[in-house]
Amino acid sequence: MSSDYEDLFNFSLDILCINGLDGFYRLVNPAFEKLLGYPADEIKAKHFLEFIHPDDRASTREEMKKRVNGRHTKHFQNRYRRADGTYVWIEWTSFPVPEKGVMYAVGHDITERKRAEEIRLQLEQEKAARIEAERGIEVRNDFISIASHELKTPLTSLTMHTQLINSMIQDGTLASLPQDTQQKLVDLTQRQLNRLTNLTGDLLNVSRISAGLVMLDLQASDLSQIVQNVLESSRIELEKCGCLIEAQLEPRLMGIWDSSRVEQVVTNLLSNAMKFGKGRPIRIVTQTDGGVARLLVQDQGLGIRPEDQARIFERFERAVPIKTHEGLGLGLYIAHQFVAAHGGTLRVKSALNKGSTFIAELPLATREQA
Ligand SMILES: Nc1ncnc2c1ncn2[C@@H]1O[C@H](COP(=O)(O)OP(=O)(O)OP(=O)(O)O)[C@@H](O)[C@H]1O
Ligand SMILES: [Mg+2]
Repeated sequence: MSSDYEDLFNFSLDILCINGLDGFYRLVNPAFEKLLGYPADEIKAKHFLEFIHPDDRASTREEMKKRVNGRHTKHFQNRYRRADGTYVWIEWTSFPVPEKGVMYAVGHDITERKRAEEIRLQLEQEKAARIEAERGIEVRNDFISIASHELKTPLTSLTMHTQLINSMIQDGTLASLPQDTQQKLVDLTQRQLNRLTNLTGDLLNVSRISAGLVMLDLQASDLSQIVQNVLESSRIELEKCGCLIEAQLEPRLMGIWDSSRVEQVVTNLLSNAMKFGKGRPIRIVTQTDGGVARLLVQDQGLGIRPEDQARIFERFERAVPIKTHEGLGLGLYIAHQFVAAHGGTLRVKSALNKGSTFIAELPLATREQA
C-alpha cells in the first residue's frame, strides 16, 4: 500500500476490512480493532460468524451468499460481540471480488443511532398505550355516568308514581278515578319497569358477550311469531311514540334459532325505530330469501350519516346526543352480536333525515330441521 492509502486505512474512523469469501478476515484496520477490542490477529483467527450476535447469524449468512455471488451490499446491519461481551451495531457497505476470493467492506458503528431508534419506538409505544388507556378510562367514565343517569331516570319516576298511588289509596281518591286514568297510571309504572328490565338485561348481555359466554339455546322457532310477541309486549311504548306499525309477516317462518336472543334483536331494532322514527309509521317485514330468513325494520325518522353507519354497531357508540335521546349505545351492539352468533348478518341502509332500514339475515333451517 502506498503511504497515502496506508494512512487512509489506518486513520479511518470507519471500519475498513478485506474479508475472504471463506469467512476469515484477511486485513482489518485499527478502527475495527478499537471498536471490537480485539487485536487484529485474533479477529483474523476466527471465522467472522463467531463475532456475530446469534439472532443476526441467519440474516448475515443470507447476505454472505449474495456477496459470494458478486452482489454489492448496502446498508446491511448486524451486531458484533466486543471483547467486553457487549454488542455493537455495524452498518456495512461491501464490494465482492469473486475472482480474488475476497470482498472489501466498510463498516460504520450505528449503535447510538439504533439505541435512539429503540428509545423513540419505546416512547411511541408507551404513548400509544397511554392514549389507549386514557380512552378506556374516558369511555368507562362516560359509560358509568350515562348508565347511572339512565338507571336513575326510571327509578325516580317509579318512586314518584308509587308515592302518588300510595297517597291516592290513603285518601281514597284512587277508587274514584275513571278506569282509563287508573290504567294510565299502571301503564306508566309498567313502562318504567320495562325500561329498567331492558337496561339491566342489556348490561348483563354485554358482560356475557365480553366474557365470550353467549350460549345459544337453539330450537325450532318462528321469526314472524317472535315479531308478533315483541309487537304485543311493546304496546305501551308504541302508543306513547304514536308510530303506526305496518307489518308484513311471512307466516310460519321457521328456523333453528335461540328465540329469546332473536326476540332481543327484534326488540332492540324496534325500540330504535320508535326512538328515532319521529312518530312516523314503522314497517316490519319478515321474509325468506334463498337460504336466509330476513327481518327488515324500517323507519322514516332521523336517519344516520354515512360516516356513523359502521360505528353504531360498536359498544357504547351513539350518533345522537344523550340530551335529546336516551340510551346507552348498546342495543345495536347486542343485536349485531346475537345475529352473528347465529351465523347471520345485521346491516343498515340509511340517509340523513330520510329514515333507516335495519336488515337482519339469519340462516334458514332446512325443512328436516324445522
Ligand atoms: N333507527 C335509527 N334511526 C336513526 N339512528 C339510529 C337508529 N338506530 C340506531 N341509531 C343510531 O345508532 C346509535 C346506537 O344505537 P343503539 O341501539 O346501539 O343505542 P341507543 O339506542 O342509543 O341506546 P340503547 O339501545 O343502549 O338504549 C343510536 O344512538 C343512534 O345514534
Ligand atoms: Mg337502541
